[in-house]
Amino acid sequence: MPAPLASALLDWYDAHARTLPWRAAPGTSAPDPYRVWLSEVMLQQTTVAAVKSYFAEFTRRWPTVTALAEAPEGEVMAAWAGLGYYARARNLLACARVVAARGGVFPDTEDGLRALPGLGAYTAAAVAAIAFGRRAVVVDANVERVVSRLFAVAEPLPGSRPAIRRHADAITPELRAGDFAQAMMDLGATICTPRSPRCLLCPLSASCAARKTGEPERFPVKAAKKPK
Ligand code: ADE
Repeated sequence: MPAPLASALLDWYDAHARTLPWRAAPGTSAPDPYRVWLSEVMLQQTTVAAVKSYFAEFTRRWPTVTALAEAPEGEVMAAWAGLGYYARARNLLACARVVAARGGVFPDTEDGLRALPGLGAYTAAAVAAIAFGRRAVVVDANVERVVSRLFAVAEPLPGSRPAIRRHADAITPELRAGDFAQAMMDLGATICTPRSPRCLLCPLSASCAARKTGEPERFPVKAAKKPK
């Protein structure tokens, strides 16, 4: 049984998850690891709205990781144009080639994924949880904000990152860790927004320490500006 907080969040996700092209419907079988990996690489530094059309074009042209691995680098770079951070596209192709050499099968653990080209701690955790149902702690900027509010983390970023990660670890359920991670992201994107969070709609408001302070938008606390 997930703890009450995870349970409330997963119930909310079952009712309100955003429909995104790389997701399987909530609660149904896990989505394709290739699509999850591709979307997570694209979503680093780029918004969901901007990624959608690129994701559609990539998966139309290269429906599998093996197809992508066989693409000429120039074509992949051209298809990536506009997403920015071109090192990501080069790593994308390098990673596709490593996975294709393994028979098109992605490693199914966080450590195995972390060893692939271009997969940092965040991406490895996200793919392990979302595509393979592993219990992994997935912390992006949205999750950082939600967690720092839930626990009213007083220390400013970035020094508070280890504490935020410990709190995130403590609330991540054993089951449905991928849905839990995506629910935290959706909550951060749609309800627990940086300014004017919509606490009346939040499934976690009863357990939110920042809400009890009356000023949830003060979290995550920003470091005081150094005097000039
Ligand atoms: N941002 C990064 N990964 C995401 C995901 N899987 N769903 C929604 N937003 C995201």
